[in-house]
Amino acid sequence: MITVLASAAADPLYMRLVLAPLEGVMDHTVRELLTDLGGYDLCITEFLRVSNKQLLPPRTFYQLAPELENQGLTPCGVPVRLQLLGSDPDTLAMNAQRAIELGSHGIDLNLGCPAKTVNKNKGGAVLLKEPELIHSAVRSMRSAIPSHKTLSVKIRLGWDTPDHVHEIVDAIIQAGADELTIHARTKEDGYKAEAIKWHYIAQVKQRLAKEGKQFSIIANGEIWNKEDALKCRELSACNDLMIGRGALATPNLAAVVAGISDKMSWLAVVEMILNYRKVQVIGSKGHHYSSRVKQWLSQMRQSYPQANELFFTIKRIKKTDDMQAAIESYLEALVLDKVDLWQQRMKISS
Ligand SMILES: Cc1cc2nc3c(=O)[nH]c(=O)nc-3n(C[C@H](O)[C@H](O)[C@H](O)COP(=O)(O)O)c2cc1C
Repeated sequence: MITVLASAAADPLYMRLVLAPLEGVMDHTVRELLTDLGGYDLCITEFLRVSNKQLLPPRTFYQLAPELENQGLTPCGVPVRLQLLGSDPDTLAMNAQRAIELGSHGIDLNLGCPAKTVNKNKGGAVLLKEPELIHSAVRSMRSAIPSHKTLSVKIRLGWDTPDHVHEIVDAIIQAGADELTIHARTKEDGYKAEAIKWHYIAQVKQRLAKEGKQFSIIANGEIWNKEDALKCRELSACNDLMIGRGALATPNLAAVVAGISDKMSWLAVVEMILNYRKVQVIGSKGHHYSSRVKQWLSQMRQSYPQANELFFTIKRIKKTDDMQAAIESYLEALVLDKVDLWQQRMKISS
């Protein structure tokens, strides 16, 4: 951890790229495919909700992050950090301790989720209204896990205004967290693209620097391509970035941002979608393949116009094997430059 920060300080071009938690989407199978394409330094899991003084059984942790059985690493070796969601300091602490014992690379606390049901049960972004409770939760987690294990927190700028972001950040730092990801919107901003406020992160960093505090901050929100990444770095003054929906839209976005490769071709994307089936079967979730392919294609539309075309042609397919056959025949047509014919055939047979 200290080495990472030291190299970041020494080299202004140094950056870490973190694969964001996306509940219901970014499961271990997608983490495997995306990290395989290069560029990611860390993954945060979807949130695990903890409440009522309940210590969750190990199998719940393994279900969320099967990587724990591989020393907490994705198959290509990228560390995975488990994210907890809750508000009771003791419950968070005991589950954090368990996750660490099982091999999680640090713990992340979710203070950004805007979902009504989650917020009603005192989890996620609603805690941004209570910096004192944040402090207690983080302090309790800190004391439950070894000091060399990273404790990170993921926040939005605030509930309905960024005015209190400094108070929130102070509560987190003073309680002993090591790292903070800031999704540069308030909860009320939802996911509105025009509401992104990367410059507020720079204000937080500047204020901390003035007070002589060095703290690791990761900027997050609305990074869809390399230009966005560069602009986010410039406006947020953060070297490190977290990428969420953009990572689904352009599967090798981290490699593109890191300068490792060019944006992958549509053909390579389709091959990856077929490979997704194999990864899913190994992860024994093969039955979700059809709906997950449709979900993913709709997220890719922003980056690949062909995803739209493919989505509309296959949207009625429900069975896994039918979906696999359709994608295989689409891939063949793509290679032979006969997609129009393929579409006609698909229309007739549906
Ligand atoms: C479908 C979906 C699920 C999400 N699930 C989580 C989650 O489990 N934990 C979390 O901290 N953030 C979650 N987020 C927020 C993202 O991690 C990220 O902060 C947000 O999407 C902004 O980044 P982006 O513009 O790069 O997508 C979710 C966002 C979406 C759209």
